[in-house]
Amino acid sequence: MVMSTRATEAKASVDIVTNFLARVQALTDDPDALDFTFGNPHEFPLPGLSAAIRTQIEPRSVDWFAYKTSEREAQEAVAAGLRAELGLAFEPEDIAMTQGAFGAISLAFALLADAGDEVVIPVPGWFCYEPMLHAANLVPVRAPLADGSFELDVEAIARVLTPRTRMVVVNSPANPTGRVYPKAAWDALADVLEGASQANGRRIWLLSDEPYRRIRFDGIEFASPAGSYASTVIDYSYAKVMLAPGQRLGYLALSPMLPAAERAELQAALMPIGLAIGWGFPDAIMQYAVPALETVSLDLAELTRKRDRLYGALSGAGFEVTRPEGTFYLWGRAPGGDGHAFCDALAQRGVHLMPGKLFDQPHHFRISLTATMDMIERALPHILEVAADLR
Ligand SMILES: Cc1ncc(COP(=O)(O)O)c(C=O)c1O
Repeated sequence: MVMSTRATEAKASVDIVTNFLARVQALTDDPDALDFTFGNPHEFPLPGLSAAIRTQIEPRSVDWFAYKTSEREAQEAVAAGLRAELGLAFEPEDIAMTQGAFGAISLAFALLADAGDEVVIPVPGWFCYEPMLHAANLVPVRAPLADGSFELDVEAIARVLTPRTRMVVVNSPANPTGRVYPKAAWDALADVLEGASQANGRRIWLLSDEPYRRIRFDGIEFASPAGSYASTVIDYSYAKVMLAPGQRLGYLALSPMLPAAERAELQAALMPIGLAIGWGFPDAIMQYAVPALETVSLDLAELTRKRDRLYGALSGAGFEVTRPEGTFYLWGRAPGGDGHAFCDALAQRGVHLMPGKLFDQPHHFRISLTATMDMIERALPHILEVAADLR
C-alpha cells in the first residue's frame, strides 16, 4: 500500500462524498441543472463581504502580508461577539483564528486528543468528522440521534462511552437535520460526561461544532453546551452565515468556565499547535476583516421564506420532513423509502438533491436552501411528480 493506514481509512470513509462532489462539480457546465446538494451560494456574494475585503486589500505597512498568527483585533472582535451571544466571559486569549470550522476542528483534535483515542460523533451528522478523525489518528465512534425526531440522544451517547473516549462532538444547529438542541439536553449530557470522566480518571472533552449558530428560524433560542459543561471548546465558521465557504475564516474558542490553570495552559498552546498542524491560521486579509464581518449575514427573512415554501409544499404532499429550526438544510425521508432511487430519478430531470446515504441514512435526502426561490419553484413540480411515481 502506498498511502499511510490513516490516509487509506480517511479516504475510504469519505469516498462516497468526494465521488458525489465530483459529479456535482460537473454540473457547473449545465446551465439548466438545479443544484440543491452542497451548501454553496447560488447568488452573488454579499456586498458587506466584498466591501470588508476591499477595505483591507491595500497594504498599509510593510508587514501587511507578513506571517499572521491570530490577529489581536480579530480575537477581540470574536471574544466580544461571543460574550454578547453566549453570556460567558470570553477573553481574546481564548480565541484561535482558523481556516474555517474545518481548521478549528483539526486544531481541537491536535490540542486535546492522543493517537488511538475514541471520539464520539453524531449520526446522522456532517460527513467530514470521520475522515478528519482518521487523518488525526483518532477513532470515530458513532452515536445515533433520536430516531425520527433527531433530538440529541444523551443515553445513546452514554452507551458508546468507554475508557478510551477522549471527546464527544456535538453540532447544533445540526447538519443535516436542522434541529437546534435546548439547554436541558446539554445539562443532561454534562451530567453524563462528568460521571464518565470521573469513572475513567481522565477528562472527556466536548467539541461544540457551531458553524450554523447564527442561522436560526422563528427566533428560536440558542444554547451552547459551553454554558453547561466546563470542558468545552467551540468551533465556528463565517462561511455559513456569509455564504462564502471559499474564503476560509473561523475560530476555536476555549470555554471561560475552564479552571484558571488549565485555561491558561491551553491559551498558551493555541498558537504553537496552530503552527504545528500546518500554519492553520487564516489569511491576513480575512483576519483584518473580522470586526466588519462579525455583522455580515445572509438574508434570514428570505431564507425563512424558502424554508416555509419548501417545507410547506413537501409536508403538504405527505412527505416526512423535519422542520428546520436552524441551518440552511431541509431533511426528509424519501417517498417509497429509497433515498438513492428518489435522488436518482430527480437527477435525471436535472434536479439534484443530496442522497441520505452520504450521512449513512439511505432512506433520506437533504435539500440545501442556499438555492434561490426561483430554483425551488422550478424544482417543486418535479419533486412532487417523482414522489407520486415512487409511492
Ligand atoms: C456541521 C459542519 N461543521 C463544520 C463544517 C465546516 O465548515 P467550513 O467549511 O466553513 O470550515 C461544515 C460545513 O459544511 C458543517 O456542516
